[in-house]
This record gives sequence, structure tokens and C-alpha cells, in this order.
Amino acid sequence: MIELNPINRLKGEMNVPGDKSISHRAIMLGSIANGVTRINHFLEGADCLATINCLEKMGIEIKREKSQILVYGRGLNGLHAPSDTLEVGNSGTTARLLTGILAGQPFESKISGDTSLNNRPMNRIITPLAQMNACVSSVMGNNCAPLVVEPSLLKGIHYYSSVASAQVKSCLLLAGLYADGDTSVTEPYLSRNHTELMLKEFGAHIRTTWNKLNEPSPPSLDSSCNRGFLSNGLRSRPTAILSPGNALSAQEIFVPGDISSAAFFIAAGLIVPNSEILIKNVGVNPTRLGFIQVCQKMGGNVTLNNKRIQNGEPVADILVKTSPLKGVTIEGEMIPTLIDEIPIIAVVAALAEGQTMIKDASELKVKESNRIHNLVLNLKNMGADIIATEDGMIINGGKGLGGTLIQSYHDHRIAMAFSIAALVAKGSTKIMDSHCVNVSYPNFFDTLNSLI
Ligand code: S3P
Repeated sequence: MIELNPINRLKGEMNVPGDKSISHRAIMLGSIANGVTRINHFLEGADCLATINCLEKMGIEIKREKSQILVYGRGLNGLHAPSDTLEVGNSGTTARLLTGILAGQPFESKISGDTSLNNRPMNRIITPLAQMNACVSSVMGNNCAPLVVEPSLLKGIHYYSSVASAQVKSCLLLAGLYADGDTSVTEPYLSRNHTELMLKEFGAHIRTTWNKLNEPSPPSLDSSCNRGFLSNGLRSRPTAILSPGNALSAQEIFVPGDISSAAFFIAAGLIVPNSEILIKNVGVNPTRLGFIQVCQKMGGNVTLNNKRIQNGEPVADILVKTSPLKGVTIEGEMIPTLIDEIPIIAVVAALAEGQTMIKDASELKVKESNRIHNLVLNLKNMGADIIATEDGMIINGGKGLGGTLIQSYHDHRIAMAFSIAALVAKGSTKIMDSHCVNVSYPNFFDTLNSLI
């Protein structure tokens, strides 16, 4: 448990740990590439360490050398059968992406996680993998992990995913590396595309096309987030297409700072009085930029400076200054671009003037915890005017927050979001099980202290 008190300002320059999504992918692709992949600024959080452990169990040598992680890739067909269960802990990304790779292996494997992970839906990958001829079954018969993956010969498919999920898309593209033909995944909206970008860097044949639809664009979306909209206002749908056959070759990867971790300090910079924070080297891939766009729409003074490209991923320094904020509506194609930031958005919205509505976000119920339920409960306990809806929440902001006892539900992003809320709440706030921040941001509290 940690106790936090209100503060008068936050000032300084900081870095955030490496991007969690990109760190996972660098280990996985490095393991099935030929040669030694060198990873800089790898996230040494519990989730990515779980990915390392799983690949080590399949015979991949992974070493730390100075500030780099070295992955001794054994090629597409170089993994060994693991001698016991692949434990993924709390990590949905490890579970879903790795299952895609395991589906194409000539050996049986079992994958399992902690209580939260083993309650998250896996039918979203089991169903399309079965269409590829993969043999993946839920041990308890409940469509959740533990999963057993048996060897089979995979065929390429075209899959229309009903959810915009990068984990589903990536799982199928990785399985597609082992299939006998093209594998393509169409999503309702573009989810984070780190797998596509990194597969390209490693030499895979991968491309994204946009299919025209006869649906007009929703009126509430502005031009700053028009991915997926044609100039005539009609919507288009992204399809990622992987053609197998190419060996992957090892790369040197520079993992940018995680925008989902930076989000907590961007929010803190906006809501704590007299603040100015510069967050350096943050990944600003457009598929992850929803939080910045929402902050700006709320009136937040957030700017991206020094933009550049690293390993095909855009990177920038983010400057944030205290700002008066107003409520907004967040829905539709914006949701996948900020899905992990909704806990901190809810906190910011509770402090902004006016109403914030979050819609189309029922995915929140199947994250590390049920984030609709847990956010609403904690914010209510802090005195916010907030109600849960079927697919999001409605927050009538500007009424101030009071310190209280916060349940993190072992969900890293709930713990961090409410640690930021505590900085402006009246009285002291205690966060239960605050060590769960280790999942994605092991030195979160040290960084916070360095800005006070
Ligand atoms: C992730 C995708 C997202 C995100 C998760 C990381 C990834 O999940 O919430 O934290 O690395 O692919 P979904 O694909 O379930 O939306």
C-alpha cells in the first residue's frame, strides 16, 4: 500500500520506460528471427519479463549486456518444446501473441497465467486460429486460459475481427508466418500496428490496405483523428495482410518510451497547479495517440516536439503545462487509440468542467480488471459524480475529489491513475496493492517523487 498527499506543483524533465507492446514484440520476433536481435530501452516490467521467460523455456538464449537485451534468434523453426507450462502472469499480450506463434510449432505446449489472465476471453483467438486449422483448446472448457496448443499444419485465412484488437490481429499474423498462404485480418477500426511495423523491419512481407465501406463518418469525429476516413467522408476498414515464406532477420531495436506510461504524467502535468513537465523520447504512433488528442480537445496544453522516426515508429518529446480542462465525448474509432488510457482519462474527466461521456468501450470489462466497474467505484468513493454505462461511463466533472482508500484490484493502470488523482484530492489517499505498477512501470513512484 502507498499513501499519497496533494502537492502544489510538478516540474522537470523525465523519461518513461520502454513501450510494453513493442518490448513484447521485439522479444518474440527476435526469438524466431535468424541472428542476434539487440533491444535498447526494453521495458523490464513483469509482463515483458514473462515473455522473456516463456521464450527461454523454448530454448531461446536471452542475455542482458550493458543497457541492451540480446535475443539469440533460432529462426522460424528453431523453438524447442517447453518442458513445463508457459507462465504468462498478468500479461494478455504474451498469452495471445505467443499462442499465435505456438499454433505453428511442431510440438505441444500449455500456456497459463494469474487469476486475472485466466479469466480473460481467449475465444477471440481460439475461434480464428481454429479456422486456420490450429488446435488450441481451453483446459477448463471456458474459453479462457490455461490453453493447450497441439501441433497442426496451418492454412492462411481472411478473418473479419468484430473487435479492434491488436492482440487478436497480432496473434493471427504471427500464426500466419507458419501458414501455407496469405493471412489477412480486417478490423472495424485500426488498432495499434506495432506488429505490422516490426514484422516489416524484420523482413516479413506485410502490408495494410483500406477497404471502402458505404458508411458515412460519424459527425462527432474531427479531422485530427480521421484515420479510416476517405476524403469523401466515407469510412474505410483496415486489413493487414501477411504473406509467409520469408525468413526473419535479426534487428537492432530502439524501444520508444511508452505513451501509455507517459499518459499518467501528462495527466498529472495538466491537473496539478503550476506544473510543467517534459517527457522525452515517447512513442507517438498515430494508433496510440488518442489520449493526446483527447487532452488537447479538453483544452490541455500538450505539445509534441522534436518528432522523428525510429525503427519505423514515430517518436517525440512531449511538453505539458497545467491547463483548465473541459469535458468531451470519446467514442468510436478513438477508443482503440486510447483504450489503456481510459483509467487516467476518467480521473482527468472528474476534474474537468462539464460532462465527459465514454462510449463504445465495453472492452474495458475484459482488461486486467473490469475497468468500468472498478473506475466508477473508486471515483465515486473519491466523491466524483460518475455513472457506469453498458459500454463506458458518464462523468459530470469539476466537483473536486477527496482522498480515500483506493482498491487497485491488482490492476497496474488503476493503481497509477488513482495515484495521480491523489495529487489533487483533498486529504490523503491510500492505494492498496500499489506494487502492481511493476507490471508496466516499475519505477513509477520514483519518477513521481523526482518531479515534486
Ligand atoms: C496490446 C493491445 C491492447 C492493449 C494491451 C496491449 C498489445 O489490447 O489494451 O494493453 O500489445 O497488442 P487489445 O488487443 O485486447 O485491445
